[in-house]
Amino acid sequence: MRTRLHVNGEAREVEHEPQETLLSLLRYRLGLTGSKEGCGEGECGACTVFVDGAPVVSCLVLAAQCEGAQVTTIEGLGRGHPDGLHPVQRAFIETGAVQCGFCIPGIIMAAADAIEREPDADRESLRRLVAGNLCRCTGYTKILDAIELARARARSGGPPCSTK
Ligand code: FES
Ligand code: FES
Repeated sequence: MRTRLHVNGEAREVEHEPQETLLSLLRYRLGLTGSKEGCGEGECGACTVFVDGAPVVSCLVLAAQCEGAQVTTIEGLGRGHPDGLHPVQRAFIETGAVQCGFCIPGIIMAAADAIEREPDADRESLRRLVAGNLCRCTGYTKILDAIELARARARSGGPPCSTK
């Protein structure tokens, strides 16, 4: 079957199996391997993308459900920003909030959404907002430092975070 959708601003028409997930379509049909396949069961958040502006775990969404949808992946999150990096991506680089990196694309997507939806969230609330994204390496301290840095910049008039 075929599904027409927009991925990172580009119109795409993709042939796929009826039972195929959005994650599979992104990674294996379109070569967008930034979204990771961790558990494949909706538990780890490594596959988080935006569909029509809302974060979803793409391993639980059928590609066929995305007919006409606007999908944003980690590859497209920085679109429209001067250096091609979303402020959350830049903050992760600056704070060194990455170890193996497997969880990071999903966490950055969740964090970008959290900052936009709850710009006044304190550290504990930010922790809860990204609690669905699991990291086996970092202990979360630097990840939360990075999210707080991006949030602080957004509040002090930094570049707008939204690229949904
Ligand atoms: S791979 Fe989708 S939530 Fe783990
Ligand atoms: S940095 Fe390795 S799983 Fe998070």
